[in-house]
Amino acid sequence: MKQLIDAIATQGYFVWDDFLTHEEVIALRDCIPENWKKARIGRNDEVIREKTIRSDQIQWLNPTMGEPVAQFLTKMEHIRLAANQAFFLGLFEYEAHFAKYEKGDFYQKHLDCFQGNENRRLTTVFYMNDEWSTEDAGELVVYDLKDTKIATIPPKSGRLFVFLSEQFPHEVLPTNAERFSIAGWFRTNGVKNNHLDIAS
Ligand code: OGA
Ligand code: MN
Repeated sequence: MKQLIDAIATQGYFVWDDFLTHEEVIALRDCIPENWKKARIGRNDEVIREKTIRSDQIQWLNPTMGEPVAQFLTKMEHIRLAANQAFFLGLFEYEAHFAKYEKGDFYQKHLDCFQGNENRRLTTVFYMNDEWSTEDAGELVVYDLKDTKIATIPPKSGRLFVFLSEQFPHEVLPTNAERFSIAGWFRTNGVKNNHLDIAS
């Protein structure tokens, strides 16, 4: 945890390999229900635009999906508390979805705090791809705000990538093999349309 906090403080992101063991990843994948839905952009269901931006399918995590999911969420809670203690970010809650990218699926370059999601502060992406190899592609490419490429991250099983949501545009290159991840966001409370936005 200290390494994560130090890296976020100095460079804004951290790659945490072996965040979960092989067995834990298998158990987590076994919890995913067969209930995939095409991902949408923002909260306004801009379905038409969305197809050209991302083509993955998602399901929001929920602790009732099984003990491994509940344990994953507990680990995220530990990160939330550590980040709040170190950075006074006021992170309030965590939302996360499983994502499935089938052959050819991608997610074009974007920031995670786009319209409707302005109060996302810290992003986590966890990978669940056993025996990933370079031919499988689907790497996450990370840029800085000047559009300089700063990292290319293979979606290797057990790896957790954490970064400041507002600092790093990123994209998922088209994958050649089925690709599973959990994308999640720590959010602050915000005021939106004159309503206190607590968990929408
Ligand atoms: C996202 C995202 C990255 C990945 O869902 O916002 O950027 O590697 N996912 O799955
Ligand atoms: Mn993203």
